Amino acid sequence: MKIINVVGARPNFMKIAPIVEAMNTEPDKIHHILVHTGQHYDSHMSQAFFDDLGISEPDVNLGVGSGSHAEQTARIMIAFEKICLTEKPDLVIVVGDVNSTMACTITAKKLGIEVAHVEAGLRSRDMSMPEEINRLCTDVLCDYLFTTDHFAIENLKNEGVADNRIFFVGNVMIDTLYRFKEKAKRLNMPSKFGLQPRQYATITLHRPSNVDDPKILNGILDAFSQIAREIPLVFPLHPRTKKNAESFGLSHYFSDNFEKGRIRVMEPMGYLEFLSLNMHAKMVLTDSGGLQEETTILGVPCITIRPNTERPITCEVGTNHMVGNDPEKIFEIAAKIMSGNRVKGGIPEKWDGKAAKRIVEQILEIKKIKAEAVN
Ligand code: UD1
Repeated sequence: MKIINVVGARPNFMKIAPIVEAMNTEPDKIHHILVHTGQHYDSHMSQAFFDDLGISEPDVNLGVGSGSHAEQTARIMIAFEKICLTEKPDLVIVVGDVNSTMACTITAKKLGIEVAHVEAGLRSRDMSMPEEINRLCTDVLCDYLFTTDHFAIENLKNEGVADNRIFFVGNVMIDTLYRFKEKAKRLNMPSKFGLQPRQYATITLHRPSNVDDPKILNGILDAFSQIAREIPLVFPLHPRTKKNAESFGLSHYFSDNFEKGRIRVMEPMGYLEFLSLNMHAKMVLTDSGGLQEETTILGVPCITIRPNTERPITCEVGTNHMVGNDPEKIFEIAAKIMSGNRVKGGIPEKWDGKAAKRIVEQILEIKKIKAEAVN
């Protein structure tokens, strides 16, 4: 069976790594090709993750780079179509919800190639999020929908998806977390920054809804600077956030050391370094999807700076608090966490480090059933 695995942007790498590893255990049954669209291209947004996660170099890099949504999506589709025509895969696997996910799904389906979506069924119901559009388009087209939790299954069923397209397998991002937790721990990043465990917090922020509007970004950074009067903050800056903060004249909130009232910023970090910091943090402030899940497993409180989440399981079972982007509310919840005792959340069903193995078993089972039907 010939399979193309697709990656494009930072969160995809953690999701594909365990799938590739699981496929490598079936060399007689699966021949797999890794295609990187090149949506993310800076070494600290892409290559660093290949190095940290031990993923071999992509077989193909489409090198599409940045652009408007239409430009980027179109460039991926044009380049990926050529690969599909040359390679003629039996199956394309896409992960997550970035532009590469949707673009490769549409391209493959129009060529009559089957597509499987890993992390299917997540819904924020917020159509101002580009990722929600990507998720909806991808799921409506994909043949096989691998889900992480009961909310995703319910969403797909409510949209009329037949049961035989839905497979509850767990969470591949958590496979990677378990696989690399000890290695990350040994890096001991807090001590490299001179920080004590549980006496600092980490931040990520890059959603257009938070960082593209000067007033909103100013309000959020102001809340962070208030928190930074109480506790050191570590903030690896996404390129979009860095560019906007500079052009809006907001760099005065930042510092390259732990000054009280200012946020320590730096280049984006590799997977292991950031995991090492997050596992010992007092709390994580973020608008990322993946971090809501990782903090749930790490038992670290997460403040999500968004009005909604496509990952409600992290609030139902885990350590996630949805606070939106109101500066007062962000500070209020952070203050509560800083003064309170940690409440340990639970672990969602099947977030056990074996999701990728289940996916590969399922794919082989589907292939077997199809082959029997033909004979
Ligand atoms: C993308 C994903 C988002 C994901 C995020 C993780 C979409 C629609 N969005 O958002 O879901 O959470 O990745 O980081 O797919 N840039 C660089 N170097 C890079 C990549 C980007 O400098 O390697 C800069 C460029 O100026 C670019 C901007 O960042 O225009 C945004 O990059 P883009 O890939 O368009 O979206 P992200 O905001 O990274």
